[in-house]
Amino acid sequence: MISNKVEPPAGNGPGTGLSATYALRYFTESVPRYEIPADGMPAGAACQLVHDELNLDGNAAFDLGTFTTTWMEPEAERLIVQNLGKNFVDRFEYPQTTEIHQRIVNMLGPLFNAPDQANFCGTATVGSSEAILLGLLAHKRAWRNKHRTGHPNIVFGADAHICWDKFARYFEVEPRVVPMAKDRFCSDAAAVRERIDENTICVGAIMGTTFTGACEPVREIDALLAGINQDRGWDISIHVDAASAGFVLPFTNPELVWDFRLSHVRSINVSGHKFGLVYPGLGWLLFKHAGDLPEDLVFYVNYLGDTMPTYTLNFSRGSGMVMAQYYNLLRLGYAGYKSIMENCLANARYFAGRLVASGLFDVLSTMELPIVTFRFRQKAGFTPFQLSRKLRERGWMLPAYNLPPTRRT
Ligand SMILES: Cc1ncc(COP(=O)(O)O)c(C=O)c1O
Repeated sequence: MISNKVEPPAGNGPGTGLSATYALRYFTESVPRYEIPADGMPAGAACQLVHDELNLDGNAAFDLGTFTTTWMEPEAERLIVQNLGKNFVDRFEYPQTTEIHQRIVNMLGPLFNAPDQANFCGTATVGSSEAILLGLLAHKRAWRNKHRTGHPNIVFGADAHICWDKFARYFEVEPRVVPMAKDRFCSDAAAVRERIDENTICVGAIMGTTFTGACEPVREIDALLAGINQDRGWDISIHVDAASAGFVLPFTNPELVWDFRLSHVRSINVSGHKFGLVYPGLGWLLFKHAGDLPEDLVFYVNYLGDTMPTYTLNFSRGSGMVMAQYYNLLRLGYAGYKSIMENCLANARYFAGRLVASGLFDVLSTMELPIVTFRFRQKAGFTPFQLSRKLRERGWMLPAYNLPPTRRT
């Protein structure tokens, strides 16, 4: 049993009579690392011990690599804490949470130019990985419902995030990977053309790749599919991985056509915890038409009091991050997101310009998004890995990594 009693320090030694946290005996006695302690300790002591140990971690505000949100307003944090204990999946007990989730989906549909207000559908996920797994699963099932035989394949670029490979392996779909060319850091329509056939469940197009932040030519891929589907009687569609771009391009470049305006784009994911400006733990998946999510993938359960549909990989989760997304959407509005994204873009472009001006680096990003990736020129005299280690001495976390091999198939 955990005791909440604060025990005063015993004896006449240092700390006697003090109730200050660091005067307690828990700061001189050893705490087991890998076993559950036999007895508990006061809340303040436990909190301080955990807090102090985590000082060994890097400072999240210096994280330049994961593109996730590291700061939110205190009001948002308050809402997150208030809603941590509410199980998001329990629509029966928390109908207003469900209503707010639905409002967000309704806001995102038009942001991605869903053609029919009443017909698109979507869900919150824990991140883009879960959204991608679920989105691709829907494509696989739709393909299977049409083709009773054959082995499914999926086509995506070598620049895709690892979750695309995970999908292929976990759900037994052959990955047909478009290699990264020496002068091109993303997929292209001609290379996609060579890999698709009647068993292709869908083609992936990434808006804001993990490696360089490049936006893939989704318009060209859409045109390619329009022609080939018509010629062959196939029905291959596109899933757009807009983990990064989904909360940037609609504000900075709304004219760029990459979303549901393209007829073959049937599903899109976006990370709430990247440029959606919410702390880690939130993604979104949207289907252009409710019919793009095969009904036999949706489960109906009634053990929480009422019959509820679920389309998720996990079940229980807190509601805090979903509420934080709603807070941001209300707080910032379209104009607020636009200003923030434009500022981020201006800073990123300035930084990229300075890197080029130094003469030591080539910038690989196309700078449509606030993501700067660079490689070293020979004369830099040091490697990306050395620079990364050097910056780490000052707390900055700048990932140095290899691009995928060009000849991957
Ligand atoms: C393009 C892309 N897709 C998917 C993911 C996976 O997203 P998450 O970390 O939200 O699961 C990432 C993460 O960086 C990404 O950059």
